[in-house]
Amino acid sequence: MKELLSWDQTLFKDSELFELDHIPEHFLHRETQMRSLMYCIRPGLGGGRTLNSLCIGAPGTGKTTAVLKVFEDIEKHSTKLIPVIVNCQINPTRYTIFSQIFKKLIGYAPPPSGASFKKIFSEVAKYIVEHEKVLLVALDDMNYLFYENEVNEILYSLLRAHETHPGARMGVIAILSDTGVPHMLDPKVESVFLPEEIKFPVYSFDEIRDILSNRTKLGFYPNVLDDSVLETIANHTCALGDLRVGIDLLKRSALNAEKRASKNIGHEDVEAAYERSRLVHLSYMMRALKKEEKTLLALIADSPNSNSGELYEMFHKKTTLGYTRFYELLNKLSSFKLIDADFTGKGARGRSRIVTLKFEPGEVKNRLI
Ligand SMILES: Nc1ncnc2c1ncn2[C@@H]1O[C@H](COP(=O)(O)OP(=O)(O)OP(=O)(O)O)[C@@H](O)[C@H]1O
Ligand SMILES: [Mg+2]
Repeated sequence: MKELLSWDQTLFKDSELFELDHIPEHFLHRETQMRSLMYCIRPGLGGGRTLNSLCIGAPGTGKTTAVLKVFEDIEKHSTKLIPVIVNCQINPTRYTIFSQIFKKLIGYAPPPSGASFKKIFSEVAKYIVEHEKVLLVALDDMNYLFYENEVNEILYSLLRAHETHPGARMGVIAILSDTGVPHMLDPKVESVFLPEEIKFPVYSFDEIRDILSNRTKLGFYPNVLDDSVLETIANHTCALGDLRVGIDLLKRSALNAEKRASKNIGHEDVEAAYERSRLVHLSYMMRALKKEEKTLLALIADSPNSNSGELYEMFHKKTTLGYTRFYELLNKLSSFKLIDADFTGKGARGRSRIVTLKFEPGEVKNRLI
């Protein structure tokens, strides 16, 4: 029987590279997006207000990473421009968002209760005026601000700060997961926001292979992963369009290979890892779903292999929403690669589709709570 690799034998040269919050040194195939971001930010380096931007694309297409890399650069080269990135899933209100900004500027968090939003906002504005700074706020996962309708208030406060506090310069980078449904802003806000739109398309197969190959070279010892196994991993990643799946697959496949005391990763290690790694995509996709989309997904999880007509009846009973909306949501879940919805050509409406879940119903339902 083969021994487990002993503790000092490992396939990982640098395991940190396979963590999802690692900021990659080589950020491949995103030159255009980085250039657009820099174009928007440049005025801020000299003390002017930055142009606002909107980074938009499917999950795992490098939006957060692009902004973090640009922010690293700003911190190295500018003392005028202060970049702050706030995760809106964790901080979904204007109070919590401005508390984060306050903390970054002033060095400690404002009291969790007691201070009003107005007070914190005014402290932030005063600070940047007095110190002659420019504030650049990246609202990551901004989708979450639409649920409670906080988004208009937040953008409005940031973008019209100079009216209440002359000299207060604040710019915004909005980061939005593309859900196929337009996110509408109040026209009043739209007219001051006017963002440059920066699109993050889904990576092609070749790009995915390239990025994963680069990670492999830096993170594993030589000859751990041959080209044909890398192709398999890239194929699995491409099927879900989310780079996180590929990075997680590299890590889990290597751990599987270590478990069987092998010095390189085989196809069987990848296959054994895939069921777990693809759940990474499920978790990230489900984060971005709205209430009615979750309702529909729950119905699909509870009714395996239903056709779209039956599903619509159930959906309508639960939500009173009409067929057009139902159809849009069904297409959206399909474009998210959470379900397959194939036309059968049969059915009362002549366009009935069999709807199947691409994941275990239990795994989906665990994430719906
Ligand atoms: N071009 C790239 N080169 C190297 N690594 C990349 C690249 N694009 C993305 N990654 C890696 O893929 C993972 C996901 O990227 P990121 O978090 O930036 O995606 P995102 O677009 O913000 O997704 P979401 O909408 O779900 O927040 C990260 O671990 C990141 O390091
Ligand atoms: Mg992100």
